[in-house]
Formats: sequence, structure tokens, C-alpha cells
Amino acid sequence: MRTPVVIGNWKMNGTLAEVDALAQGVLAGLAGLAGVEVGVCPSFVHIARVRDQVGPALGVGAQNLAVQPAAGAYTGEVAGFMLKELGCAYVIVGHSERRSLFGETSVLVAEKVAVALDAGLTPVLCVGETLEERESGATEAVVGEQLDAVLDRCGVAVFSRLIVAYEPVWAIGTGRTASPGQAQAVHAFIRGRVAARDAAVAQSLRIQYGGSVKPDNAVELFSQPDIDGGLIGGASLKAADFLAICGAAAQVGGR
Ligand code: 13P
Repeated sequence: MRTPVVIGNWKMNGTLAEVDALAQGVLAGLAGLAGVEVGVCPSFVHIARVRDQVGPALGVGAQNLAVQPAAGAYTGEVAGFMLKELGCAYVIVGHSERRSLFGETSVLVAEKVAVALDAGLTPVLCVGETLEERESGATEAVVGEQLDAVLDRCGVAVFSRLIVAYEPVWAIGTGRTASPGQAQAVHAFIRGRVAARDAAVAQSLRIQYGGSVKPDNAVELFSQPDIDGGLIGGASLKAADFLAICGAAAQVGGR
């Protein structure tokens, strides 16, 4: 049984007051939700503060981690063991903004997945194609390469300890959501790619959709057979919208 998982990626947003209000707002609405796993990923500097406010009801994660596993002279980096000690459950790895704006390659992303797992964190491995890649028919080649890098580096067994997030780059922050059919097709491809190495692991793998998920399109997306919740950007910055999306996942249920 795959329990749907909805995670808010707050990206680089929020004053202290805004983050407090958002954390409190999400926490207040969680009580009525059953059958959905919920998490939020604030900026590094806000993680401890949010963790202290929300307690165990809400999972907290980071948006990135250092590829270096141990302490050392790596100015500006944050290690997985530090995130674990702060109480993080998740860490987003290979978000398209990390890949496109900060030059993260699939090989580096795979190494970060390994480091995150070793630190006891659940990686949320992001994959997805650009508009140009989709229009040239390269979606499966691109997503396949991103997955294979992790499969080759870490082995298929780790896919029972991580979450994959399919985030088509053209749908992130654009208001242009993949249609449920478009998203389902890629989710089925991802599950199939993992199933080619281990069918049981693939069956248990949770695959989130991300890219302009809103309260009014969440039920339809989450109802697709291979979509197990969402990774939410803009809509996760409004507690009511985020909670409505979590409610949609709870309504659809697991499979
Ligand atoms: P939006 O929901 O703002 O499109 O962002 C999606 C995303 O990048 C989540 O990681």
C-alpha cells in the first residue's frame, strides 16, 4: 500500500514572521487529515525554527544538501548529518532549479542521494524534462537518464527508501500544469524503469507530481494510478491552499 505524500517546497521564501505564520497555519489544519503523509521544506535557516513549532505531526525537510558526507572545509555547504540532527525527515535532491541554475549534473545528484540515505534522510529525487526536450520527443530519454544515474550509483533497492518527484520544468511556477494524462504517462514510465530492475521495489515506490499543483487540479492529478501525491511550490506558501491539496490526496487515498 502506497500512502500518498504531499510536501511543500517553500524555496527561498519567507521572513521569520511569514514562516512562523505559515508553519502555524499548516499545523492547525493537519488534525483533520488522515491517510496522507505531509511535509514542508523551508529554507536552511528556518528549518530549526519550523521543526520546533510543528512537533512530530508534520515532517520537515531541506531543499538541498552538500555532496560531502562529513564535516570539513566546505564554505557555505550544509551536510546531511546536520540536517538529520535538526530533525529533518526529507531532503529534496536534484530539483530542476538546482540542475539548471546551479549546474548540478545527474552524477552529482546521484551522489547526493547516496549521501542523504547514509545520513538517514529520505531523499525526494526530482526528475523532469524542459519544454524543448518534451517538444523534441526526448522526455523519456531525459527522465530515464536522470533515473539511471541513481539506479547505477545506488542500486535499485534504495528506491524503497526514497521518493521520486516528477516535475516537468515547463510546469514549475508557470501555471501550466501537465494534464493528468501527460503526468500519468511519465509516472508509469518511471515506475516501469524501476520495475525493469525490481518489480516489487517499483510497486512500493512513491512518485509525486510537481508543477503548478493547485487546490482545483489536485484531485484529478492525484487520482491517476501512478501518482502518489505532490511536491508543491507556490501553493505551499498559502496554508489554506496547501491544506486543500493535502486534503485532495487524503480524499483520493493510497493504492
Ligand atoms: P510550483 O508548484 O510553484 O509550480 O513549483 C513546483 C516545484 O518546483 C516544487 O518543487
